[in-house]
Amino acid sequence: MVGEDFVSMIPAAQSEIWYGEVNGQTKEVIAKSNSILLDVLRDKTGCLGVKRGCDMGTCGCCTVMIDGEPRLSCLTMAHDVSGSKITTVEGLSDGSHLAPIQQCFADHGGSQCGFCTPGFLIASQALLEKNPNPTEQQIACAIEGNLCRCTGYQQIVQSIQAAAAIHRGDAEAVASNNAAHADPHPSGPEI
Ligand code: FES
Ligand code: FES
Repeated sequence: MVGEDFVSMIPAAQSEIWYGEVNGQTKEVIAKSNSILLDVLRDKTGCLGVKRGCDMGTCGCCTVMIDGEPRLSCLTMAHDVSGSKITTVEGLSDGSHLAPIQQCFADHGGSQCGFCTPGFLIASQALLEKNPNPTEQQIACAIEGNLCRCTGYQQIVQSIQAAAAIHRGDAEAVASNNAAHADPHPSGPEI
């Protein structure tokens, strides 16, 4: 009836304290006990680099590292990973210097529209931290859960191979490219 309160058949989730080490910083936020990690990272910790693609575990855009392992944040209950060490794409760079994997994606065309890139970067970084000398097949396995509609994948594989060479010490990051960049528009966009 009009004006009658709606009575939910499902009990409301309780609020609880969620905490974790996100990109090296301790975060403590209030979240629902049934929150998805993707929502907590984006809405409560401000990590907007974690992308929501399919929201059902098929695209890999939302990949983050949890205690060193790449995981889909859209399929992870935040409660289950409270207290964990989480790395999102924001945590890869060293201040204003890109990580080798980020620089190599930029240099080798591994990122085009960029929507899939945070997930690929995290999956790739997780691989290189364990195996700095991956075969092409191992690279393909590491990124098999990540979809890209732009690059055709070959540039992504080349980007990861180039970053692997830097991790092994066989190649140097190009200093001029990897140098910190000043903001070209410090007073905002030109009108
Ligand atoms: S948003 Fe998580 S796999 Fe697509
Ligand atoms: S760069 Fe556009 S979806 Fe991958």
